[in-house]
Parts: sequence; structure tokens; C-alpha cells
Amino acid sequence: MMMMMLQIILLLTESVLVSSYALNSTVQCERPDEKTTLQVRAGESLYLPCPNLQCYKETENSSYVWFRNLSSTKQVEQIGTEESERVHYHHSVLYILWLNLNDTGRYITRWWYEEDNCDEFETDLVVHEEFSTDLLYHTMAEKKVSGIYCPVCEDQQGSITWYKNFSLIPNQESDPLRIPNSSKESEGIYTCVCTWEHHGIKHNSSGSRRLIIEELTINISPKIQLPVNNSVVFVDVGSKVILNCSVYFGQTVCERCSIRWEKNGIKLHGVDGYKQEYRKMDGTIQSLLTITEVSESDLRSKFACRAEDSVEMIFVSVTLKRRASVLYVILACICTFLVFLLVAGVLKWFALDLVLFLRQIFVKLYRKEDGKLYDAYVIYQRNNLDEATSKTLSDFVNGSLLTVLESYYGFKLFIHGRDDLPGEDCMNLIETEIQLSRRLIIILTPEASTDKSSVSPEAYDLQVGLHQALVQGETGVILIQLGKMQDYTHLPLGLQHLLSKNSPLLWRDGESSPNSRFWKRVRYQMPVVSSCQRSSKSRSLKASFPCQGFLV
Ligand SMILES: *[C@@H]1O[C@H](CO)[C@@H](O)[C@H](O)[C@H]1NC(C)=O
Ligand SMILES: *[C@@H]1O[C@H](CO)[C@@H](O)[C@H](O)[C@H]1NC(C)=O
Ligand SMILES: *[C@@H]1O[C@H](CO)[C@@H](O)[C@H](O)[C@H]1NC(C)=O
Ligand SMILES: *[C@@H]1O[C@H](CO)[C@@H](O)[C@H](O)[C@H]1NC(C)=O
Ligand SMILES: *[C@@H]1O[C@H](CO)[C@@H](O)[C@H](O)[C@H]1NC(C)=O
Ligand SMILES: *[C@@H]1O[C@H](CO)[C@@H](O)[C@H](O)[C@H]1NC(C)=O
Ligand SMILES: *[C@@H]1O[C@H](CO)[C@@H](O)[C@H](O)[C@H]1NC(C)=O
Ligand SMILES: *[C@@H]1O[C@H](CO)[C@@H](O)[C@H](O)[C@H]1NC(C)=O
Ligand SMILES: *[C@@H]1O[C@H](CO)[C@@H](O)[C@H](O)[C@H]1NC(C)=O
Repeated sequence: MMMMMLQIILLLTESVLVSSYALNSTVQCERPDEKTTLQVRAGESLYLPCPNLQCYKETENSSYVWFRNLSSTKQVEQIGTEESERVHYHHSVLYILWLNLNDTGRYITRWWYEEDNCDEFETDLVVHEEFSTDLLYHTMAEKKVSGIYCPVCEDQQGSITWYKNFSLIPNQESDPLRIPNSSKESEGIYTCVCTWEHHGIKHNSSGSRRLIIEELTINISPKIQLPVNNSVVFVDVGSKVILNCSVYFGQTVCERCSIRWEKNGIKLHGVDGYKQEYRKMDGTIQSLLTITEVSESDLRSKFACRAEDSVEMIFVSVTLKRRASVLYVILACICTFLVFLLVAGVLKWFALDLVLFLRQIFVKLYRKEDGKLYDAYVIYQRNNLDEATSKTLSDFVNGSLLTVLESYYGFKLFIHGRDDLPGEDCMNLIETEIQLSRRLIIILTPEASTDKSSVSPEAYDLQVGLHQALVQGETGVILIQLGKMQDYTHLPLGLQHLLSKNSPLLWRDGESSPNSRFWKRVRYQMPVVSSCQRSSKSRSLKASFPCQGFLV
């Protein structure tokens, strides 16, 4: 009876207080800042204890009132205690059976722990029609786990069933759920369904959490795959450039792994004109640095991509260089080509001089004694010539030829009419002397002998010389042509054959300078002068020649 009275009184006071809360708050309760949010699924039931542990446990000498402010009505209303109600409370516990979406809202527990002292606690409830990741309790990210606690039914009796990725784990009714050998395979969403009874009716409450097994990290040093250290990126000033940095850390979950771009050691994060984007995948972190407009200062700067993990920090440097323009490349090509042409031209023009110069050096160094006496044996027609040709010929032979080759360059020549006794038929001598000569100089004149049968000395030395040159191939032949010629048909066959292989050097009047092209070409075909011959004149050597004795 007393209890009944007390309850009625309590109820009365409660109702008074309630109205004061709902309509007019003369009652001032302490409101701790604690706010709880609870995500639940429609269709299940909720056993909601007062969110404060003291409030929940210390029910003796306490009184409770529950209110709700539903999202749909936005009105504060008191919740009843009638057990038959779908939503009712019993002291510090609120029951919401068969949750539906309209139950979403704020639930307030007013706890009178003394006659005139009260606290108020708020719980925001969100009801979800379907499963959503919002429903997940704290994710467990561990390297190794031994079990998972059921996040619901902490405060009430109930039987538990476990689900992994929404499929039943058979014969697992324990709390916590044991995971004997946790591995990557153990990852997933674990749902605990707690079935409890209220007035003989079974109700379900469920809670899910995700389990992540972190890799056992064997510390690998980060590896910068891109860019290449100290590389150069060619850019256009004023254009946009993307620098790509890619670092392999080897750990999929790595809290302290980071990369960043720097310019001259200064972080570019948040600097105007520079944008960094990050991507993570399979242990690799990429950072793309976008320079919206490359400036001159960028060209003078050093960019670095810095990679850091918990152990070390490494970096690679990149510099920007102005890209050569297409015009510049073309100009460079043209210039190179022109220089090439020039060099080729100069080489061609001076090739003869070069060869002469080099030959002089090398042959002097490696010269071997070949037992020859003369550098060249000069063959030319001395008879049956018209006056003009005869004059030209004698001018050439006695003038230029002797002056240039003998006096100037120091060659030693054998010339008929000078080096032998004129008119003397000295056939053996001719043969020997030709053999003692390194070259044959054959001077071709426009009008050669018409009388081929006559055995003139010059015809004979020509015959011997040609034999020597063509048949024995011992002596080189230098053909010099004086003046123009129609054809060479009037010449001996052997000579025609030589002419078909080598065109003669054409002598023009006036090329008397020793440095003229004509004489260079002659010298080119001549053997190299030995230095001793330069000073000594042929005459002195001549004295000892056997022909002299023969003739005497
Ligand atoms: C609350 O009630 C008191 C009297 O009971 C009244 O004076 C006051 O204006 C009311 N306040 C509000 C906000 O209605
Ligand atoms: C409740 O109140 C009674 C009477 O005032 C008191 O004897 C008892 O110790 C109180 N209980 C608690 C737990 O405070
Ligand atoms: C009920 O909650 C809504 C927000 O959900 C809020 O705007 C409103 O003021 C609350 N009503 C009362 C009486 O506190
Ligand atoms: C939720 O409230 C709306 C109106 O506020 C009502 O039409 C609907 O039937 C309610 N749903 C449930 C499950 O009570
Ligand atoms: C646990 O894993 C280890 C190797 O990964 C295996 O040798 C052992 O048998 C496993 N134990 C159980 C209970 O599965
Ligand atoms: C469970 O789902 C997670 C993704 O949510 C997946 O990684 C895991 O392999 C799944 N586990 C099983 C056993 O299907
Ligand atoms: C509670 O969950 C079990 C499976 O865990 C299911 O068989 C049963 O129907 C559910 N009961 C209610 C009332 O939703
Ligand atoms: C950056 O480098 C990575 C690694 O080589 C490559 O996969 C990616 O496509 C690159 N991104 C760009 C924009 O060049
Ligand atoms: C890149 O080169 C610099 C020196 O130019 C050096 O200090 C740095 O360690 C190098 N970075 C890597 C990752 O090798």
C-alpha cells in the first residue's frame, strides 16, 4: 500500500515535472556535455539503458523520466511506462520494440538522484532501414587479434549468434568471439545478434564491426621509383608542368609514410601556383606536383621529392631546364651542316697540300733506301717539231721543269740532252738510267712524231720507259700535256693505254710559280725528296756514273 502511494506520488511529481519540461522549463537540470549517438536497424528492438553508468546503476532512491523529441514531430513528449506500449521505460532503461524509421530522434533521460537535484542525458538515435557502414561500431585494426566482443547486449541477458560478412558462423555463441589464428583471411564485418526476451517475446539487437588485420611490417626502406635522381626536365617557361613522384613503401597500411614536393627545401603545400595531388595504392604513394605556370625562378630552383617513413627520410632532386625551341634546333642543324660543308670544302681544296705535307714528314721518317739514283727520267720529243711547239717545249723543260723541280724542290731529274752526251746512241745507258729512276715524266706535245719507224733516241727511251712502266710495273708514270690536243691517236699504243687510265696534267703558260696547283699535282705524283738531295746537285753524282766510262 505504501509502495503504491509512493509510486502515485512519484508519478504525480513526475507529471508535474514533465509538463514543466515539455511546456515551460522552470525545472533546471544539469546537462553534462555527454551526448551519445546510436545507430540501429529497423525491425530490431532496442534496450537502451541511461547512457550514464551511475544513472543506470543507482536506481535506489532515484527517479527517472524519459522524453523524446522525434525528428518527425520536433516536439518534446514524455514517454510512458506502460509495459504494453511499444516504446516505454522502466526506471533507467528505455525499451523501443520493433524499431521503425519514425523512432529516429533525440531521447532524454532525466535522472532525479536527490529530491530536488537532477541530471539530463541525451541520446541521439538513428534508425536505418538497411545495413549501412554507419551502423558499424569502432573498426578493429590490429596486427593480431584473439577475439571480438559483441558491441550490444553488454547489460542484459541474451543469447548470441555471430555472423561474418553476413553469413552465420556456426556454433559460435560466445562473447567475445574467439579467433584462434588471425590472419588476412580473418578480415571482414563481424555481426553479433543478441536475442533477448521481454515479457516472453524474443527480440533481437545487433551490432557490427569491421576487423582489419594489419600487415606485419618488415621494415623496407622506401624506394623512389620516379623521378630519376638529379634528372633534368625540359620545360617551356609559362607553360604547365606536372612532376611525377612515385615512392614504394612496401606497406599497405603505413601511418607515418608520406611524400612531399619541395622547392629549394621549402614545402610546396599550399603555395600559390603549385598543386599537389596524392594517390595511394598497394604500398606505393604517388604525388603529382602541378606547376601551373613555369617561371624563370623555377628554372633556377631545385625541386625535390622527399619520402619519409617512421625510420628514414630520403629525397631525389629534379631541375627544370628551358626546352630548346624547334627554330633553335633547325638553326643548329643548318649551322652544323654549313660548317660541315665548309670543312669538307677546305679539306678538298687543301687535300693536296695536306698530303704533300704529311708525306714529307712520314716518308722522311720511314724512308728506305731503294737503290735508285734519279727521282724522275724525263721523256719528251726533241725532233720533228714545229718551231712554236719546240719553243714551248724547251721553255717548259729548261725553264719551269728544271727551276721548280730541281732548283726549288730539289728533285733529281735525268734529262736527255743535258745529262747525257747529245746525239750519242747509248741504249744500254737509257735502259739503266730508266731503271735507276723512280718515275717517268712523259711530256706530251701536240704534234708528235709522224715517223714512228725511225729509231730516234726519244722514241727509244719512250719504248723502254713504257715497257718498264706497263710490263714490269715498276716505275710510276707522270704524264704532262703541253697545250691542247684533239685526241691521242697519234701516240704509241702503250701511251694511249696509260692515258686511258690517268688523265695527263695539263700545263698552261704562266703556271711557273712553284706553289701553283699544277706543280703541287706533279709533286703529288713524284716521290718524296730526300733531304740530302736538296743541297747536292746532280752534276757531281753524275761524274761517277758508268755511262761516262762507256762513252769515253
Ligand atoms: C513558465 O511558467 C511561468 C509560470 O508558471 C511563466 O511565468 C513563464 O512565462 C513560463 N515560461 C514560458 C517560456 O512559457
Ligand atoms: C535511500 O534513502 C534511505 C532513506 O532516506 C536511506 O536510508 C538509504 O540509505 C538510501 N539509499 C541509498 C543507496 O542512498
Ligand atoms: C526538437 O528537436 C529539434 C531538432 O531535431 C529542435 O529544433 C527542437 O527545438 C527540439 N524541440 C525542443 C522542444 O527541444
Ligand atoms: C511514420 O510517420 C509517418 C507520419 O509521420 C506515418 O505516415 C508512418 O506510417 C509512420 N511509420 C511508422 C512505421 O510508424
Ligand atoms: C595457425 O596458423 C599456423 C600457421 O599459419 C598453423 O601452423 C597452425 O596450425 C594454425 N592453427 C590453427 C589452430 O589453425
Ligand atoms: C569479407 O568482406 C571483406 C570486405 O568487406 C573482404 O575483404 C573479406 O575477404 C571478406 N571475407 C570473407 C571470408 O568473405
Ligand atoms: C532474431 O534473429 C534470429 C537470427 O539471429 C532470427 O532467426 C529471428 O527471426 C530474429 N527475431 C526477430 C524478432 O527478428
Ligand atoms: C606517375 O608515375 C607512375 C609510376 O610510374 C605512373 O604509374 C603514373 O601513370 C605516372 N603519372 C603521370 C601523370 O605521369
Ligand atoms: C640523390 O642525389 C643526392 C646528391 O645529388 C643525394 O644526396 C641523395 O641521397 C640522392 N637520393 C637518392 C634517393 O639516392
